[in-house]
Amino acid sequence: MGLRDRRKRKRYQDRKANVAEPMAIDHRKYSQILSLRHTASAPLVSTHSRGAMFHSFRLLNATTGGVIGRSLDSRAMSTFTIDTSTSRATPSPVPGKRMTVPSIRARKADGQTEQPIVMLTAYTMRMAQLLDPHCDMLLVGDSLGQVIYGLPSTIPVTMEMMCAHGAAVVRGSWHALVAVDMPFGSYEASPAQAFESAARIMKETGCAAVKLEGGEAIAPTIEFLTHRGIPVIGHIGLTPQAVNILGGYGARGREQCEAEKIVADARAVDEAGAFSIVVEGVMEGIAREIARNTTAPVIGIGASADCDGQVLVIDDMLGMFERTPRFVKRYDDLAERIGKAARAYAQEVRARTFPTADQTYRPKS
Ligand code: KIV
Repeated sequence: MGLRDRRKRKRYQDRKANVAEPMAIDHRKYSQILSLRHTASAPLVSTHSRGAMFHSFRLLNATTGGVIGRSLDSRAMSTFTIDTSTSRATPSPVPGKRMTVPSIRARKADGQTEQPIVMLTAYTMRMAQLLDPHCDMLLVGDSLGQVIYGLPSTIPVTMEMMCAHGAAVVRGSWHALVAVDMPFGSYEASPAQAFESAARIMKETGCAAVKLEGGEAIAPTIEFLTHRGIPVIGHIGLTPQAVNILGGYGARGREQCEAEKIVADARAVDEAGAFSIVVEGVMEGIAREIARNTTAPVIGIGASADCDGQVLVIDDMLGMFERTPRFVKRYDDLAERIGKAARAYAQEVRARTFPTADQTYRPKS
Protein backbone atom coordinates (compact mmCIF):
# COMPACT_ATOMS: atom_id res chain seq x y z
CA MET A 1 0.00 0.00 0.00
CA GLY A 2 1.42 3.37 -1.02
CA LEU A 3 1.95 6.28 1.37
CA ARG A 4 -1.12 8.08 0.02
CA ASP A 5 -3.31 5.02 0.49
CA ARG A 6 -1.98 4.47 4.00
CA ARG A 7 -2.74 8.09 4.88
CA LYS A 8 -6.21 7.77 3.38
CA ARG A 9 -6.87 4.61 5.35
CA LYS A 10 -5.58 6.22 8.55
CA ARG A 11 -7.89 9.19 7.99
CA TYR A 12 -10.82 6.80 7.48
CA GLN A 13 -9.94 4.87 10.65
CA ASP A 14 -9.65 8.09 12.65
CA ARG A 15 -13.08 9.10 11.51
CA LYS A 16 -14.54 5.69 12.24
CA ALA A 17 -13.06 5.68 15.72
CA ASN A 18 -14.62 9.03 16.33
CA VAL A 19 -18.04 7.89 15.24
CA ALA A 20 -17.95 5.41 18.11
CA GLU A 21 -16.91 7.96 20.69
CA PRO A 22 -17.10 11.54 19.55
CA MET A 23 -16.01 14.29 21.85
CA ALA A 24 -19.17 16.10 22.88
CA ILE A 25 -18.52 19.79 22.43
CA ASP A 26 -20.93 22.19 23.93
CA HIS A 27 -21.57 25.10 21.58
CA ARG A 28 -21.21 27.42 24.56
CA LYS A 29 -17.60 26.34 24.83
CA TYR A 30 -17.00 27.50 21.30
CA SER A 31 -14.65 30.26 22.33
CA GLN A 32 -12.76 27.88 24.60
CA ILE A 33 -12.30 25.56 21.65
CA LEU A 34 -10.86 28.35 19.60
CA SER A 35 -8.28 28.95 22.32
CA LEU A 36 -7.75 25.20 22.66
CA ARG A 37 -6.51 25.23 19.08
CA HIS A 38 -3.50 27.16 20.22
CA THR A 39 -2.72 25.10 23.30
CA ALA A 40 -3.53 21.49 22.41
CA SER A 41 -0.61 19.14 21.93
CA ALA A 42 -2.06 17.92 18.60
CA PRO A 43 -2.64 20.74 16.14
CA LEU A 44 -6.38 21.34 15.80
CA VAL A 45 -8.40 23.19 13.26
CA SER A 46 -12.05 24.04 13.30
CA THR A 47 -14.24 24.24 10.25
CA HIS A 48 -17.39 26.29 10.22
CA SER A 49 -20.51 26.06 8.20
CA ARG A 50 -23.16 28.69 8.40
CA GLY A 51 -26.42 27.25 7.11
CA ALA A 52 -29.81 28.88 7.06
CA MET A 53 -30.63 27.42 10.43
CA PHE A 54 -27.41 26.40 12.09
CA HIS A 55 -24.03 27.81 12.79
CA SER A 56 -22.00 24.70 13.35
CA PHE A 57 -18.37 23.72 13.50
CA ARG A 58 -16.21 20.62 13.48
CA LEU A 59 -12.94 20.22 15.31
CA LEU A 60 -10.31 18.35 13.31
CA ASN A 61 -6.95 16.89 14.09
CA ALA A 62 -4.82 18.86 11.63
CA THR A 63 -2.34 16.03 11.13
CA THR A 64 -4.74 13.17 10.49
CA GLY A 65 -7.75 15.16 9.34
CA GLY A 66 -9.87 13.06 11.72
CA VAL A 67 -12.98 14.65 13.19
CA ILE A 68 -12.54 14.76 16.95
CA GLY A 69 -15.55 16.82 17.83
CA ARG A 70 -18.57 18.56 16.49
CA SER A 71 -20.72 21.31 17.85
CA LEU A 72 -24.05 20.27 19.26
CA ASP A 73 -25.70 22.36 16.55
CA SER A 74 -24.32 20.23 13.78
CA ARG A 75 -25.28 17.07 15.61
CA ALA A 76 -28.89 18.27 15.66
CA MET A 77 -28.93 17.93 11.92
CA SER A 78 -26.88 14.83 11.52
CA THR A 79 -27.26 12.48 14.42
CA PHE A 80 -31.01 11.91 14.35
CA THR A 81 -32.44 9.51 11.87
CA ILE A 82 -35.99 8.55 11.14
CA ASP A 83 -36.41 4.79 11.44
CA THR A 84 -38.50 4.18 8.35
CA SER A 85 -39.96 0.92 9.64
CA THR A 86 -41.46 2.55 12.73
CA SER A 87 -41.44 6.22 11.65
CA ARG A 88 -39.80 6.95 14.99
CA ALA A 89 -37.04 9.46 15.42
CA THR A 90 -34.22 7.74 17.16
CA PRO A 91 -31.63 9.68 19.05
CA SER A 92 -28.00 9.49 18.19
CA PRO A 93 -26.40 6.16 19.09
CA VAL A 94 -23.64 8.24 20.66
CA PRO A 95 -25.50 10.96 22.49
CA GLY A 96 -23.72 13.66 24.43
CA LYS A 97 -24.26 13.78 28.13
CA ARG A 98 -27.59 15.28 29.19
CA MET A 99 -27.81 18.16 31.58
CA THR A 100 -28.76 16.87 35.01
CA VAL A 101 -30.47 18.32 38.05
CA PRO A 102 -27.14 18.72 39.90
CA SER A 103 -25.56 20.37 36.83
CA ILE A 104 -28.39 22.90 36.66
CA ARG A 105 -28.24 23.55 40.38
CA ALA A 106 -24.47 23.92 40.25
CA ARG A 107 -24.82 26.85 37.85
CA LYS A 108 -25.64 28.95 40.89
CA ALA A 109 -22.90 29.08 43.47
CA ASP A 110 -22.74 31.49 46.41
CA GLY A 111 -25.85 33.24 45.09
CA GLN A 112 -24.21 33.97 41.71
CA THR A 113 -24.87 32.45 38.29
CA GLU A 114 -21.99 33.01 35.92
CA GLN A 115 -23.67 31.41 32.92
CA PRO A 116 -27.41 32.10 32.77
CA ILE A 117 -29.66 29.07 32.29
CA VAL A 118 -31.39 28.88 28.91
CA MET A 119 -34.83 27.32 28.82
CA LEU A 120 -37.55 27.18 26.15
CA THR A 121 -40.80 25.33 25.93
CA ALA A 122 -41.12 22.50 23.42
CA TYR A 123 -44.09 20.28 22.68
CA THR A 124 -43.08 18.17 19.69
CA MET A 125 -40.23 15.88 18.70
CA ARG A 126 -38.91 17.97 15.81
CA MET A 127 -39.03 21.24 17.69
CA ALA A 128 -37.16 19.56 20.55
CA GLN A 129 -34.45 18.44 18.10
CA LEU A 130 -34.01 21.97 16.84
CA LEU A 131 -33.98 23.67 20.25
CA ASP A 132 -32.03 21.06 22.17
CA PRO A 133 -28.47 22.09 21.18
CA HIS A 134 -29.13 25.63 22.33
CA CYS A 135 -30.91 25.01 25.61
CA ASP A 136 -29.99 23.81 29.07
CA MET A 137 -33.57 22.83 29.79
CA LEU A 138 -36.63 22.13 27.65
CA LEU A 139 -39.98 22.60 29.34
CA VAL A 140 -43.03 20.73 28.14
CA GLY A 141 -45.28 23.45 29.48
CA ASP A 142 -48.99 23.08 30.06
CA SER A 143 -49.15 26.17 27.85
CA LEU A 144 -49.56 23.45 25.18
CA GLY A 145 -53.23 23.70 26.10
CA GLN A 146 -53.41 27.06 24.35
CA VAL A 147 -50.51 26.73 21.94
CA ILE A 148 -51.21 23.25 20.53
CA TYR A 149 -54.83 22.53 21.42
CA GLY A 150 -56.44 25.98 21.20
CA LEU A 151 -57.87 25.72 24.71
CA PRO A 152 -58.90 28.90 26.52
CA SER A 153 -56.50 28.30 29.45
CA THR A 154 -54.30 25.61 30.96
CA ILE A 155 -57.11 24.39 33.21
CA PRO A 156 -58.46 21.67 30.84
CA VAL A 157 -55.00 20.22 30.10
CA THR A 158 -54.88 16.48 30.92
CA MET A 159 -52.23 14.03 32.10
CA GLU A 160 -52.59 12.22 28.76
CA MET A 161 -51.65 15.40 26.85
CA MET A 162 -48.64 16.08 29.07
CA CYS A 163 -47.41 12.48 28.85
CA ALA A 164 -47.77 12.26 25.06
CA HIS A 165 -45.97 15.55 24.38
CA GLY A 166 -43.43 14.97 27.15
CA ALA A 167 -42.42 11.62 25.60
CA ALA A 168 -42.11 13.26 22.16
CA VAL A 169 -39.81 15.97 23.50
CA VAL A 170 -37.64 13.44 25.34
CA ARG A 171 -37.35 11.41 22.10
CA GLY A 172 -36.29 14.52 20.22
CA SER A 173 -33.58 15.65 22.63
CA TRP A 174 -30.35 14.34 24.04
CA HIS A 175 -28.63 17.30 25.63
CA ALA A 176 -31.13 19.44 27.53
CA LEU A 177 -32.80 18.41 30.76
CA VAL A 178 -36.48 17.86 29.96
CA ALA A 179 -39.06 18.95 32.55
CA VAL A 180 -42.79 18.36 32.19
CA ASP A 181 -45.55 20.48 33.74
CA MET A 182 -47.97 18.78 36.11
CA PRO A 183 -51.43 19.67 34.82
CA PHE A 184 -54.09 21.37 36.93
CA GLY A 185 -55.85 18.89 39.20
CA SER A 186 -53.07 16.31 39.18
CA TYR A 187 -51.18 17.37 42.31
CA GLU A 188 -53.04 19.88 44.48
CA ALA A 189 -55.18 17.49 46.53
CA SER A 190 -52.34 15.87 48.49
CA PRO A 191 -48.65 15.00 48.34
CA ALA A 192 -49.65 11.40 47.64
CA GLN A 193 -51.74 12.43 44.64
CA ALA A 194 -48.81 14.55 43.43
CA PHE A 195 -46.42 11.62 43.80
CA GLU A 196 -48.67 9.30 41.83
CA SER A 197 -49.05 11.84 39.00
CA ALA A 198 -45.38 12.84 38.91
CA ALA A 199 -44.24 9.21 38.91
CA ARG A 200 -46.58 8.48 35.99
CA ILE A 201 -45.23 11.48 34.06
CA MET A 202 -41.64 10.40 34.64
CA LYS A 203 -42.31 6.75 33.73
CA GLU A 204 -44.29 7.53 30.59
CA THR A 205 -42.10 10.32 29.25
CA GLY A 206 -38.59 9.66 30.49
CA CYS A 207 -38.30 13.27 31.65
CA ALA A 208 -35.94 14.19 34.47
CA ALA A 209 -38.16 16.59 36.41
CA VAL A 210 -41.65 17.97 36.85
CA LYS A 211 -42.81 21.55 37.37
CA LEU A 212 -45.73 22.57 39.50
CA GLU A 213 -47.31 25.89 40.39
CA GLY A 214 -47.69 27.39 43.83
CA GLY A 215 -45.77 28.83 46.77
CA GLU A 216 -46.08 28.32 50.50
CA ALA A 217 -49.24 26.18 50.17
CA ILE A 218 -47.59 23.68 47.84
CA ALA A 219 -44.14 23.62 49.52
CA PRO A 220 -44.90 20.50 51.62
CA THR A 221 -45.78 18.67 48.38
CA ILE A 222 -42.49 19.76 46.79
CA GLU A 223 -40.64 18.44 49.85
CA PHE A 224 -42.58 15.15 49.69
CA LEU A 225 -41.68 14.67 46.02
CA THR A 226 -38.01 15.63 46.26
CA HIS A 227 -37.54 13.25 49.24
CA ARG A 228 -38.90 10.48 47.02
CA GLY A 229 -36.68 10.92 44.00
CA ILE A 230 -38.73 13.39 41.98
CA PRO A 231 -36.88 16.59 41.06
CA VAL A 232 -39.22 19.58 41.11
CA ILE A 233 -39.17 23.00 39.48
CA GLY A 234 -41.33 25.50 41.38
CA HIS A 235 -43.43 28.15 39.62
CA ILE A 236 -44.49 31.31 41.45
CA GLY A 237 -45.65 34.87 40.75
CA LEU A 238 -48.18 34.74 37.92
CA THR A 239 -49.39 31.15 38.07
CA PRO A 240 -51.68 30.57 35.05
CA GLN A 241 -53.45 27.58 36.60
CA ALA A 242 -54.78 30.00 39.24
CA VAL A 243 -56.27 32.31 36.59
CA ASN A 244 -59.74 32.00 38.11
CA ILE A 245 -58.47 33.19 41.49
CA LEU A 246 -56.17 35.86 40.06
CA GLY A 247 -58.81 37.13 37.60
CA GLY A 248 -56.44 37.35 34.62
CA TYR A 249 -52.86 37.16 33.42
CA GLY A 250 -51.67 40.58 34.59
CA ALA A 251 -48.25 41.04 36.22
CA ARG A 252 -48.11 40.33 39.96
CA GLY A 253 -46.57 42.15 42.88
CA ARG A 254 -47.73 45.72 42.22
CA GLU A 255 -48.78 46.06 45.86
CA GLN A 256 -46.15 45.77 48.56
CA CYS A 257 -48.02 43.01 50.39
CA GLU A 258 -48.32 40.93 47.22
CA ALA A 259 -44.63 41.45 46.44
CA GLU A 260 -43.77 40.24 49.96
CA LYS A 261 -45.99 37.19 49.51
CA ILE A 262 -44.20 36.25 46.26
CA VAL A 263 -40.82 36.54 47.98
CA ALA A 264 -42.13 34.35 50.84
CA ASP A 265 -43.42 31.83 48.27
CA ALA A 266 -39.96 31.69 46.70
CA ARG A 267 -38.34 31.07 50.06
CA ALA A 268 -40.79 28.27 50.89
CA VAL A 269 -40.32 26.55 47.52
CA ASP A 270 -36.54 26.90 47.79
CA GLU A 271 -36.45 25.47 51.31
CA ALA A 272 -38.73 22.61 50.23
CA GLY A 273 -36.01 21.49 47.80
CA ALA A 274 -37.07 22.72 44.35
CA PHE A 275 -33.95 22.60 42.17
CA SER A 276 -34.98 25.71 40.27
CA ILE A 277 -37.85 28.17 40.43
CA VAL A 278 -39.75 29.73 37.54
CA VAL A 279 -40.81 33.26 38.44
CA GLU A 280 -43.44 34.56 36.04
CA GLY A 281 -44.87 38.02 35.42
CA VAL A 282 -43.65 40.02 38.40
CA MET A 283 -42.69 43.66 38.93
CA GLU A 284 -39.08 44.65 38.56
CA GLY A 285 -37.09 44.17 41.75
CA ILE A 286 -38.99 41.12 42.97
CA ALA A 287 -36.96 38.65 40.92
CA ARG A 288 -33.74 40.36 42.07
CA GLU A 289 -34.79 39.98 45.69
CA ILE A 290 -35.71 36.33 45.13
CA ALA A 291 -32.57 35.46 43.15
CA ARG A 292 -30.39 36.95 45.90
CA ASN A 293 -32.07 34.94 48.62
CA THR A 294 -32.58 31.50 47.13
CA THR A 295 -30.09 28.72 46.57
CA ALA A 296 -32.09 27.36 43.60
CA PRO A 297 -31.55 29.15 40.29
CA VAL A 298 -34.41 31.49 39.39
CA ILE A 299 -35.69 31.19 35.82
CA GLY A 300 -37.57 34.31 34.79
CA ILE A 301 -40.39 34.85 32.33
CA GLY A 302 -41.52 38.42 32.39
CA ALA A 303 -39.51 38.82 35.55
CA SER A 304 -36.64 41.10 34.38
CA ALA A 305 -33.00 40.37 33.64
CA ASP A 306 -32.23 39.92 37.34
CA CYS A 307 -32.71 36.16 37.17
CA ASP A 308 -30.35 33.21 36.94
CA GLY A 309 -31.90 32.22 33.62
CA GLN A 310 -34.79 32.87 31.26
CA VAL A 311 -37.62 30.87 29.72
CA LEU A 312 -40.03 31.75 26.92
CA VAL A 313 -42.90 29.96 25.23
CA ILE A 314 -41.40 28.90 21.90
CA ASP A 315 -44.39 29.88 19.78
CA ASP A 316 -44.33 33.38 21.30
CA MET A 317 -40.67 33.99 20.55
CA LEU A 318 -41.03 32.64 17.01
CA GLY A 319 -43.87 35.06 16.29
CA MET A 320 -46.57 32.44 15.77
CA PHE A 321 -49.23 34.69 17.24
CA GLU A 322 -50.38 38.14 16.23
CA ARG A 323 -50.29 39.38 19.78
CA THR A 324 -47.41 38.71 22.10
CA PRO A 325 -47.17 39.65 25.75
CA ARG A 326 -44.97 42.64 26.57
CA PHE A 327 -42.19 40.52 28.07
CA VAL A 328 -41.77 38.45 24.90
CA LYS A 329 -39.16 39.33 22.34
CA ARG A 330 -39.99 38.05 18.86
CA TYR A 331 -36.94 36.46 17.31
CA ASP A 332 -38.77 35.64 14.09
CA ASP A 333 -42.11 36.06 12.38
CA LEU A 334 -42.94 32.48 11.53
CA ALA A 335 -46.67 33.17 11.21
CA GLU A 336 -46.00 35.50 8.32
CA ARG A 337 -43.46 33.16 6.73
CA ILE A 338 -45.79 30.15 6.98
CA GLY A 339 -48.63 32.19 5.49
CA LYS A 340 -46.38 33.21 2.58
CA ALA A 341 -45.31 29.62 1.92
CA ALA A 342 -48.92 28.37 2.05
CA ARG A 343 -50.03 31.16 -0.32
CA ALA A 344 -47.27 30.29 -2.82
CA TYR A 345 -48.18 26.59 -2.67
CA ALA A 346 -51.90 27.31 -3.15
CA GLN A 347 -51.16 29.54 -6.16
CA GLU A 348 -48.97 26.89 -7.78
CA VAL A 349 -51.48 24.08 -7.23
CA ARG A 350 -54.25 26.23 -8.73
CA ALA A 351 -52.03 27.22 -11.65
CA ARG A 352 -50.94 23.58 -12.07
CA THR A 353 -47.29 24.62 -11.81
CA PHE A 354 -46.75 22.24 -8.87
CA PRO A 355 -45.72 19.45 -9.01
CA THR A 356 -43.16 19.64 -11.80
CA ALA A 357 -41.04 16.85 -13.27
CA ASP A 358 -38.64 17.32 -10.34
CA GLN A 359 -41.27 16.15 -7.89
CA THR A 360 -42.61 13.30 -10.02
CA TYR A 361 -41.70 9.59 -9.83
CA ARG A 362 -40.63 8.10 -13.14
CA PRO A 363 -39.96 4.46 -14.00
CA LYS A 364 -36.21 3.77 -14.19
CA SER A 365 -35.15 3.74 -17.84
O1 KIV B 1 -46.59 26.30 30.64
C1 KIV B 1 -45.60 26.98 30.35
O2 KIV B 1 -45.24 27.16 29.19
C2 KIV B 1 -44.88 27.60 31.44
C3 KIV B 1 -43.88 28.64 31.07
C4 KIV B 1 -44.62 29.89 30.75
C5 KIV B 1 -42.89 28.85 32.14
O3 KIV B 1 -45.12 27.31 32.56
